[in-house]
Amino acid sequence: MKSERASFGSKFGIIMAAAGSAVGLGNIWRFPVETGNNGGAAFILIYILAIALLGVPLMVAEFFVGRHAHTNAAHAYRKLSSHPLWSNIGFIGAFGGSLILCYYVVVAGWVLKYMFLSIDGTLGALFTPGDASGYESLFGTFVSSTWSPLIYMAAFVLMCHFAITAGVRRGIEKLSKIFMPALFVILVVLVVLSLFAPGAQEGLSFLFHPDFSKLTTRSVLLAIAQAFFSLSLCMGCLCTYASYFGKDVNIIRSAANISIIDTMVAIMSGLIIFPAVFSAGIDPQSGPSLAFIALPGAFCEAFSGVPMLASLISILFYALLVLAALTSAISLYEVPTAYIHETWHIRRRYAAMLVTVVCLLLGTVCSLSMGLWGDVQLFGKNIFDLLDYFCTTIMMPLSGVFIALFVGWVVKRSVFIDDVTNEHALRPGPAKLIWWLLRWVAPVLLLAAFLGVLGVI
Ligand code: PFF
Repeated sequence: MKSERASFGSKFGIIMAAAGSAVGLGNIWRFPVETGNNGGAAFILIYILAIALLGVPLMVAEFFVGRHAHTNAAHAYRKLSSHPLWSNIGFIGAFGGSLILCYYVVVAGWVLKYMFLSIDGTLGALFTPGDASGYESLFGTFVSSTWSPLIYMAAFVLMCHFAITAGVRRGIEKLSKIFMPALFVILVVLVVLSLFAPGAQEGLSFLFHPDFSKLTTRSVLLAIAQAFFSLSLCMGCLCTYASYFGKDVNIIRSAANISIIDTMVAIMSGLIIFPAVFSAGIDPQSGPSLAFIALPGAFCEAFSGVPMLASLISILFYALLVLAALTSAISLYEVPTAYIHETWHIRRRYAAMLVTVVCLLLGTVCSLSMGLWGDVQLFGKNIFDLLDYFCTTIMMPLSGVFIALFVGWVVKRSVFIDDVTNEHALRPGPAKLIWWLLRWVAPVLLLAAFLGVLGVI
């Protein structure tokens, strides 16, 4: 079966699709949690440094490999080197990306459930001023139950399935072009509203006054891991998307724009969540449940005079969280789907079906590890946490080291510069700088981060 390879239709579509991959639960759910756990503003500063020194160069590297090779992520590196050490880098990413998908859909399922809980008024009815225990027990009972999270996860997986089978242009690109601007508008509205919450001042100072005494080596590693997760780096997504780019796309400018959009959304999510957290008297270090426990009550608190408005905002917020999760999950879905489709020469629809079945099975295991199988633990972590830790703290930096070394040392400099400058139609300065960062800075920092995680240094 030989067919014309798919491509994105417009530059705006490309930015929206790649930003759609980047902007997701990582920004709205994970970033505030990590910031809360690691001392607020000091963590954000390290995070922004990680984005600039590692994130943007690695995104450019992945875009370069994907567009140059014009094939799926697992095979792309082969087109640039036949040495087994380098030709298989793509597999690490594609494998890691597929694993992330399996627990990502579980959290996306929770978000979907919360959207319905806002619609049917359950969240609003649980509101007691200054007391979040109702939300706490609702969340705890829900995630540890057996069937309900599974049903919502399956519903979310099916949504991804249909988006993927609609194709690159009619599915991924079209959805991203609608969802991303909508997400942005709603975020702006929510930020403005949350700045009027009673705890806004405290929330803002938590976010913007750095306390370096709280910063440890571990928090630096976590900032790098969070930057990688948030930008969807090194997991095959961006490389696969870039294989659908045209030759006239300015790769560096796109990477910079996507990183700026992603970081802005993360900080805006902090601006929504922390004022709410402080006004509801919740510990900012309360962990992953922050967005599910603090927010519903905070919406009610802020608009207690107009309950209709509170529930409308809550519905919109969770709906948009679903959309953000959807555009990220479909980018993860696309990695194994494109691989199976192009390697086994089976129709895209069947490749997607296979991905769906595997994702449902592994997603079920992750979901059950929050309750029924919670006792199955390794290194003190359940399966869900273990997978998250393994993918984001080990696989991503490791894959990043290899990608940086590959583009910085193995690929000829002229091949990189020619491609990234669109055969010298663009100025060479930024491409040279990125190449230098990939050659000298990224491998050293990432290797140090990786060894730090393993406790070697
Ligand atoms: N970047 C996405 C987020 O912030 O939610 C998650 C993600 C997508 C991680 C794709 C990794 C990936 F390859």
